[in-house]
Amino acid sequence: QPTLRSLFPKDVRIGSAVRAEALAADSRYGRLLSQEFSALTPENSLKWANIEPVRGFYDWASSDRLMAFAASRKQAVYGHTLVWHTEVPAWVTEDLSPQEVRDLLKDHVTKVVSRYRGKIWAWDVVNEALAEDGSLRDTIWLRKLGPNYIADAFSWVRAADPNAILFINEYGAEWGNRKSAALLELVRKLRSEGVPIQGVGFQSHLPYDRSAAGMAENLARFTSSGFAVAITELDVRIDLPATPEKLQRQAALYLDVVNACLSVSGCVSLTTWGFTDAKSWIPSYHKGFGAACLFDEAYQPKPAYQALMAAL
Ligand code: XIL
Repeated sequence: QPTLRSLFPKDVRIGSAVRAEALAADSRYGRLLSQEFSALTPENSLKWANIEPVRGFYDWASSDRLMAFAASRKQAVYGHTLVWHTEVPAWVTEDLSPQEVRDLLKDHVTKVVSRYRGKIWAWDVVNEALAEDGSLRDTIWLRKLGPNYIADAFSWVRAADPNAILFINEYGAEWGNRKSAALLELVRKLRSEGVPIQGVGFQSHLPYDRSAAGMAENLARFTSSGFAVAITELDVRIDLPATPEKLQRQAALYLDVVNACLSVSGCVSLTTWGFTDAKSWIPSYHKGFGAACLFDEAYQPKPAYQALMAAL
């Protein structure tokens, strides 16, 4: 029986975010994940606050479990995420000196990347570094370390893993706008300075009633500058209740985004941010919205899944 994984072009990974706790608890979850996807992104397991909740005590249990699962299913793992301004442990505070913050961040990045060296095909090195107006986002990293923290982070990751493809990941830059213009400028500048950055990830958390027009053109601006691109966190939220009409429109947008990626050579992977409505982050973060995934809460395929399968 065909699946997304079997029908997707071989040179483009089709991935899903994974919750380690769901993997442990529910065999249906793991079964669908292995059938449908050629790549996994740990949804939360590798975030600093989760992996080092207490200073000096790393908890690798859930990320190790996820890596073992992926290896046994011949799935690639997309590492998410090393430098981000949220889900930072509570013990990383503004009271620390710049040098301490730098040492802690470098140590964190080096530990995580080294542990999984050779097992992660791509890393989100820096996540959400830009503000809406295209300036660097005001974060603890910018305040303590200055704008070079981005270049430094990429160098630290490269030193710990010579082969992973290194991405910067962003939301709200899926179309031509101030943020995507600033992002393109940033990555070109980094590369011209010799920073080891190869890819740009576009999260793509989208409302069902928008159009994907212009997305392929935007991705192509990055690939024609020599960067790989990836759709890293695709979901398509619906203001509840989800009606048949809304689900059809959601299906059309999913298909348009997949086609945008597949139409651009250099779009190396497309990851959905979870695959079942039963485990999606949307209802708790976007009040009144939900039903954002390809499978419903009972793990049944939705019109969006059917649309992709019919088109692939
Ligand atoms: C979200 C997860 O899906 C939630 O389970 C968690 O509670 C918060 O983070 N952009 C990102 C992801 O880069 O890491 C976020 O994931 C969603 C927005």
